Amino acid sequence: MSPKRLEDMYDAVIVGAGAAGLSAALGLLRSPEVAELREQGLDPKILVVSKLQPLRSHTGSAEGGIAASLGNIESDDWHWHYYDTIKGGDWLVDQDAAKLLAEYAPETVINLERQGVAFSRTEDGHIAQRRFGGHTRDFGGEPVKRAAYAADRIGHQILHTLWQQCVAQGVEFAEEWYVTDLVLTEDGSQAAGIVAMDTHTGKIHAIHARNVLIATGGAGRLFHTTSNSWDLTGDGMALALASGLQLEDIEFVQFHPTGLAHTGILLSEAARAEGGILRNAEGEAFMERYAPEHKDLAARDVVSRSIMAEIDAGRGVADPKDPNGPKDCVWLDMTGIDPKRMAQALPQVVETIEQYANLDPAKDLIPIKPTAHYTMGGLPITTDGEVYRWDGTRRTVVDGLFAAGECSCVSVHGANRLGGNSLLDACLFGTRSGRTLAARIVENPAGSPMADDASDELLTAAVDQAADMRNQELDKLLQGSTAAGQSDHGEGDENAYALMARLGSIMERALAVRCSADTIGNALEQLNTSIRPAAEALHAHDKTAAFNQEVTAIWEVRHLIELAEAVLQASDARHESRGSMRRLDFPERDDEHFLAHSMVSADGTVTFKPVIITDYPPKKREY
Ligand code: FUM
Repeated sequence: MSPKRLEDMYDAVIVGAGAAGLSAALGLLRSPEVAELREQGLDPKILVVSKLQPLRSHTGSAEGGIAASLGNIESDDWHWHYYDTIKGGDWLVDQDAAKLLAEYAPETVINLERQGVAFSRTEDGHIAQRRFGGHTRDFGGEPVKRAAYAADRIGHQILHTLWQQCVAQGVEFAEEWYVTDLVLTEDGSQAAGIVAMDTHTGKIHAIHARNVLIATGGAGRLFHTTSNSWDLTGDGMALALASGLQLEDIEFVQFHPTGLAHTGILLSEAARAEGGILRNAEGEAFMERYAPEHKDLAARDVVSRSIMAEIDAGRGVADPKDPNGPKDCVWLDMTGIDPKRMAQALPQVVETIEQYANLDPAKDLIPIKPTAHYTMGGLPITTDGEVYRWDGTRRTVVDGLFAAGECSCVSVHGANRLGGNSLLDACLFGTRSGRTLAARIVENPAGSPMADDASDELLTAAVDQAADMRNQELDKLLQGSTAAGQSDHGEGDENAYALMARLGSIMERALAVRCSADTIGNALEQLNTSIRPAAEALHAHDKTAAFNQEVTAIWEVRHLIELAEAVLQASDARHESRGSMRRLDFPERDDEHFLAHSMVSADGTVTFKPVIITDYPPKKREY
């Protein structure tokens, strides 16, 4: 699908068509404000731009569940969920946001059900729920079944449902359009629109909009081993850095404990919720030692660190596919799960193991290792989804700029996200940002006779200028190629894919599960002396602009490089260990100096912003 009204000024452009972007579109279009507007004969002009066909968005690969204190199986209370979220995030959580997350989680899940999400069911017909790491009753007591699930394909269910609802609402999509620029007004105070390439034609388009919402997901491709799809190259975060904005808490990257060896593909935590156990080379169920209370279902940072500790202690195992290779895995033992239940509750996990490892989880031990899974940080947003700047003392909202989902940081995940809270964040805060957008749009809809044409002209000029510059850059990228597909730049120049792989290995060595000033320093040096110059020299090996995936790969790797620098600088500035960040040179949590959100800019400047603590003062985490 291509947009039909490209010459228009859009009321809102949403970049990204996963759970967050689609929830925002629906929150906007279903708001009472928009209903009123439509009664006056005015239809807001909304465009959703996605570099993928929306049904290929990474939301579709979320497996285990969405957290909500529905209490369908065991009694539950949103206050417990609220507390667990703060504790799981190692107290680096803004409690005003986490409170909203937990309080409105049940309503969010029930709304999804009403829209068509086919949840698994209890025998009496309620939405089924399972255990997930870190979710407890009575403020840190016994584990509680809080993750509402659809076998192990909850993301697929949610994505398809939201997309169908958007289609029913007549949402206009620009599919397989790659956004190259986020454009703000010259003083950086207001969103003006975006520049995007229609990958089908290779044409660059200026898209003018009074409001822009970024919902582009995470950045797992920063790392070699990741559960993320190939497309998660942190585009929205990099676009924000390039437009002079900051990223919050970007040093916190979650490594999911159970990535399938060799591939990093997610084997859902649901496998452990259903009875799977982690074992070392000696067959020991080692989590009993590290987290005696919650064992294999302790929070993810704890489990991933424990796995690495076993590997470091020489109790790792090699991937059976490469028996003489490094012993950098441990076993996931699912043989104790009833095979009938396994087929019913974990079809995706079983299929992944069969297809990619050629093993049978009912009989074989499965080699796993931690895999880059989720970026806790991102574009700083208010609880209404507005992006803001931090000047060291206060927040200033960028007029008309919004963000939602994994690329944003409303700060509900702090230093470590609990399983099931990301779909919830995306749907709940996506919807809220859509409603805020609706309230803005209704005040001054672009199509109305009252529209402010003078200020629209300023926005239009800014976007047109950015599009001209991008066109010139595209020409250069293509001119660097020869029709025969040979490089003009001599033997040995790198392509974007090889460079991305090199960057992934550097970042993995620097930051995966643990780091130190040395590992960070080495990575920064390689980034600046080798990776960045190679990226600047990149060019396409074919002159054709249409469907030239190498061009988008060049932009993607450049985005990753800018983001890598920000992640490394923020990691370097945090002299403590907290949540997912384990600094070998600063092994303790240091609330006195670092109970604060990092805010990093493209030039590597890092400042800190206080954490909002309203109900639960910091405590030591115990498992
Ligand atoms: O393990 C999982 O199913 C992942 C869930 C999540 O990241 O929320």
